[in-house]
Amino acid sequence: MQIKENIHYVGVNDRVKHRFEGLWFLPIGVSYNAYLLVDEKVALVDTVDVAFFAEFLDNIRAAIGDRPIDYLIINHMEPDHSGSISLIRKYYPNIRLVGNKKTFEMVQGFYGEPTEDDVVVTDGATLSLGQRTLTFYLAPMLHWPETMVTYVAEEGILFSGDAFGCFGALNGAVLDTQMDTTPYWPEMERYFASILGKFCAPVQTALRKLGALDIRMICATHGPVWTEEVPKAIETYRRLSSGQTEKGLVVCYGSMYGNTQRVAEAVAAGAAEVGLKKIVVHNLSVSQPSFVLADVFRYSGLAIGGPTYNGGIFPVVEDLLKRLAGREVKAHKLGYFGGFTWASAAVKTIAAYNEQMKMTLVGDPVEWKQGASHDAIARGRALGKALAEAIMADGE
Ligand code: FEO
Repeated sequence: MQIKENIHYVGVNDRVKHRFEGLWFLPIGVSYNAYLLVDEKVALVDTVDVAFFAEFLDNIRAAIGDRPIDYLIINHMEPDHSGSISLIRKYYPNIRLVGNKKTFEMVQGFYGEPTEDDVVVTDGATLSLGQRTLTFYLAPMLHWPETMVTYVAEEGILFSGDAFGCFGALNGAVLDTQMDTTPYWPEMERYFASILGKFCAPVQTALRKLGALDIRMICATHGPVWTEEVPKAIETYRRLSSGQTEKGLVVCYGSMYGNTQRVAEAVAAGAAEVGLKKIVVHNLSVSQPSFVLADVFRYSGLAIGGPTYNGGIFPVVEDLLKRLAGREVKAHKLGYFGGFTWASAAVKTIAAYNEQMKMTLVGDPVEWKQGASHDAIARGRALGKALAEAIMADGE
């Protein structure tokens, strides 16, 4: 599939995997994008998950027949993109791998010795294919230390690796102008929160670095190729990586027998009562973590609650706390709540946790013993009100 003169999309859709990285739910699949630039030299930009190698090879052959490939540009070594390197080398024994010093350390670790023909590039280095010249920019931690992006100045095309990518398989078309992109924007937020949420500062650094480039087309490794929507894709990544949030509240709770759930409902009701409209409630035993994280990245307020369990906090809530600690979500307004039956631990656990996270504590934490009493529910409602008022007052 040609996306521009002599640039072919040779990627594949994965509609089989349940969880990306073994972690993140894929309700509408994911694409592994790779591109083939056909010039005096032929360059392949990235590969695909090795499970899809046969289809990938067919796509390459449909584009260039038996013509050899001169270069494999390795923007990113995570195996959803590098997984087919060994097989590509077998089918194209004269192919020269192009990457930076860290890329080749990982090539060696994952796939064995690089060859002496491989091309080691540094930041700003160029490689001419004939009519087109590739420029390589290092973009560490976007999403691994070796990550780089590849830019074609003649046409303003950025092969961006994971950056500006999203979950969601491609339904026929590849270019944003040839599809309804509506499903991909929430999938971009969910992808960012899940995969890149720890690396907001490096994303900001890369955005500053790439800001000087004239970018007219973004070919990411996941999701549509952006042309008309280049500004929206860049703005979405800028917003998510800068910590910019909307006024809204995410109530996240775990509950065994419904007591914590009743207080969670009271927190949401209290927030609604004073006029906050954007409120999302997640039962952490049911909601998929990536959807929860995407909502936390979207909204400025967070309420977390769970029962005491085995002398600590209920496991699904503990899991959320760990996931949040590994991401840049410290600017949030936080309220919390939790019950116990004979020895209090849940609320203390969240209090200790926030000493590290340093989110802005709002309202009085709500704790109760055994059943969720009318008093606990009233205090939950007061906590919701306090959170909503603080959220709505922000920036006034
Ligand atoms: Fe799509 Fe970080 O790999």
